[in-house]
Amino acid sequence: MEQINIYSGKKAISRIVAAESLRDLPSCLEPYRSIYAVIDGNVARKCPATGQLTEILKNRNAKIKLIETSEEGKTLETVMHICAWLLENGADRDAMILAVGGGITTDMVGFASCIYKRGVRFAYVPTTLLSQVDAAIGGKTGVNFDKYKNILGIIRQPAFTYMCPQLLESLPQRDFLSGVAEMLKTFIIEDNGNYQKAADLFFDISSEYHVEVMMYGKDEKQAWAEILKKHRRTLSGLISAAARVKAGVVSRDQFEKDERRKLNLGHTFAHAIETLAQRESAEQRETATEDMETEIQQRLPEGVTHGEAVAMGMVLAAKLADRYYRNDRNDPTELEAKISNDLWDCNIPCYCPYSIEEMAQIMKKDKKAEGGKVHFVLPKAIGEVEIVALTVDEVCRLMK
Ligand SMILES: NC(=O)c1ccc[n+]([C@@H]2O[C@H](COP(=O)([O-])OP(=O)(O)OC[C@H]3O[C@@H](n4cnc5c(N)ncnc54)[C@H](O)[C@@H]3O)[C@@H](O)[C@H]2O)c1
Repeated sequence: MEQINIYSGKKAISRIVAAESLRDLPSCLEPYRSIYAVIDGNVARKCPATGQLTEILKNRNAKIKLIETSEEGKTLETVMHICAWLLENGADRDAMILAVGGGITTDMVGFASCIYKRGVRFAYVPTTLLSQVDAAIGGKTGVNFDKYKNILGIIRQPAFTYMCPQLLESLPQRDFLSGVAEMLKTFIIEDNGNYQKAADLFFDISSEYHVEVMMYGKDEKQAWAEILKKHRRTLSGLISAAARVKAGVVSRDQFEKDERRKLNLGHTFAHAIETLAQRESAEQRETATEDMETEIQQRLPEGVTHGEAVAMGMVLAAKLADRYYRNDRNDPTELEAKISNDLWDCNIPCYCPYSIEEMAQIMKKDKKAEGGKVHFVLPKAIGEVEIVALTVDEVCRLMK
């Protein structure tokens, strides 16, 4: 078990416990008298470790609520629903709210805990790779509102985040790969030799999966779970390494005034891609019921996960860096090729089907834009990025 702290000045304000199993969770819960656990329904149904988790919670007389999660349901209404449950079940100011699930669950339960009775303590057991390396670290909580993602929220640190790769073995492959993209993003920002280790591991995992499923005809879910189990130790080391990077950045800049912006590498493009993909699928739903003949052509027919959009965004950021530093000594053209090859090798789609003009329309409305400029994170090399404020028109000119 490893402990990583998040600091405000010299004071530790949150701790991340990285363990190989749930064995050490009871000791993390020990100090708390009344525990209220909100668990993602998919985790409860699909994750074999849930039995052990339920046992731990029962031993502490915890109250348990299951929620169904979706990006559309990441709303104030769901947060109110969680608050109503806390109220009905007598949660007082001494309560500890435990969120068990992916980023949607931790963001919403964290937010509910921040506003319930003006703020009660909360902690996370993240169950997706994306939430273990990113969403459950750093204290950003919130919900979507009025077509904007995560526009309502509060930054407040959980008492602890308990992570173990055992919980990831039931995660669908596509959701797992979404987290791989965020992990690679973290190591492009700060490497310490971990980027290549991660790219090699996920290349191996992807190859082994194809051999087992395509060549030996093994059941997809079983093969996936077995391969993840086999690599549990290496995966665990990389999850801790990514958590250390994020914890360090958050400790130096909790409220995203400066350095924390680096963690948004690829995200300005990613948000535009997610919005365009959502629009296409909404339009398709409408035309499909009214007139099948005018059904629009969807460029991402399977939709896009957050991690896939980030993967596409990172490749675009590398291209932008290439154009921006054209006269520099670094050679980001190679970097763009390296990042996209590594993502493909891990089985993460990273080709963006939208034009820069289409994305520009969305980026102009970016909620993080300041004085007409958006902060773009430009990768100069693996482990080296720079934050540059550019107008969207400048970006369009550079990317053409
Ligand atoms: N707070 C932050 O700093 C931050 C950072 C990045 C992303 N986010 C947010 O995180 C969200 C995305 O997070 P996510 O990718 O974890 O999505 P998610 O919570 O939707 O989980 C993905 C899917 O996997 C299922 N699932 C979760 N754990 C499982 C398990 N162990 N076994 C089987 N199924 C499981 C979920 O039910 C869901 O269907 C977005 O809303 C994004 O805005 C927040």
